Amino acid sequence: MTSRIIGTGSCLPETVVTNAYLSTIMDTSDEWISSRTGIRKRHLVKEETTASLSIEAGKKALAAAGVAAEELDMIIVGTLTGDYVTPSTACEVQAGLGAVNAVAFDINAACSGFLFGLHTVNAYIHSGMCRTALVIGAETLSKIMDWNDRSTCVLFGDGAGAAVIQADEKGLVTFDQGSDGEKGKYLACRDRTNNNPLVQSDKVLAYTHMDGQEVYKFAVTYVPASIQKVLGEAGLQPEDIKYYVLHQANLRIIQAVAKRLKVSMDKFPISLDHCGNVSAGSVPILLDEVNRKGILQKGDRIIMSGFGGGLTWGTCLLEW
Ligand code: UT7
Repeated sequence: MTSRIIGTGSCLPETVVTNAYLSTIMDTSDEWISSRTGIRKRHLVKEETTASLSIEAGKKALAAAGVAAEELDMIIVGTLTGDYVTPSTACEVQAGLGAVNAVAFDINAACSGFLFGLHTVNAYIHSGMCRTALVIGAETLSKIMDWNDRSTCVLFGDGAGAAVIQADEKGLVTFDQGSDGEKGKYLACRDRTNNNPLVQSDKVLAYTHMDGQEVYKFAVTYVPASIQKVLGEAGLQPEDIKYYVLHQANLRIIQAVAKRLKVSMDKFPISLDHCGNVSAGSVPILLDEVNRKGILQKGDRIIMSGFGGGLTWGTCLLEW
């Protein structure tokens, strides 16, 4: 028994922030951002929260799947920017959807969060502990950026994507995932101050910092290797895949992966031009965009791959 994606949805915040606007509030330019990354604009929250974006994306995925919220056994949200330390975003989503029969929890695997959630749900389904689940990748990264650090804040956007997963004989085929904690320092956010009265602590809020070149090297090495691994396990060649739905960190990373696999960029749909890097949200938002274009046929082979903070990576081969 495996599982199949039977519906997708996504939700982006209303406010669009262009590169031109960013160049009015910091020392950057549309030319630098678009030529180094491919990003032209991103959506950032004002009123919206990680939970509200997730609930909206989840509603759309349930409607597309024709599944009622009460039918969900499980909700997993991949996020590193939940609105609360507790309750989890997944519990907020459960309440927002009225998914009274679902067990709900978050996974923090940064940009691999949606893939880690998908793998987890598939394992539950395979074991018979779950039949129908909602997996969401959602972020409001704008709140953990240092808006004085032009080398990171211009890259990221906010948003949520969701998929309904159900037990089936066919669908998700094979997975690869991994973590390299030794490299965690290359993309980190300490965030909360320590409020323990026994511990001397400076009351400085910390924001995301990244060694872009180290993360870049990691991505262009680990992602093709992970994709080759799932292709090898399935006995397939890179050209047998219709679409590669990759984490949207940087167009140059995606081009490097395409080159390494020797496949055309036509097989790599792109959303980073209008969404930026939405961390755990990138892969499910892009999957939903592709799905809603109506270009996926039953049986199409798709590879999804996420990579980032941790450092972590996760790849899944599926038949639509
Ligand atoms: O989802 C998490 C995964 N994250 C990633 O995959 C990120 C991977 N890394 C990257 O995508 C790239 O390393 C970046 C896009 C982050 C940076 O590109 P780069 O080609 O590695 O640039 P750089 O960091 O070497 O910076 C080159 C120059 C520097 O100036 P100098 O020292 O050459 O004078 C930077 O200060 O560009 C400058 N710079 C900027 N200039 C204008 C850095 N950020 C900006 C900016 N606008 N926003």
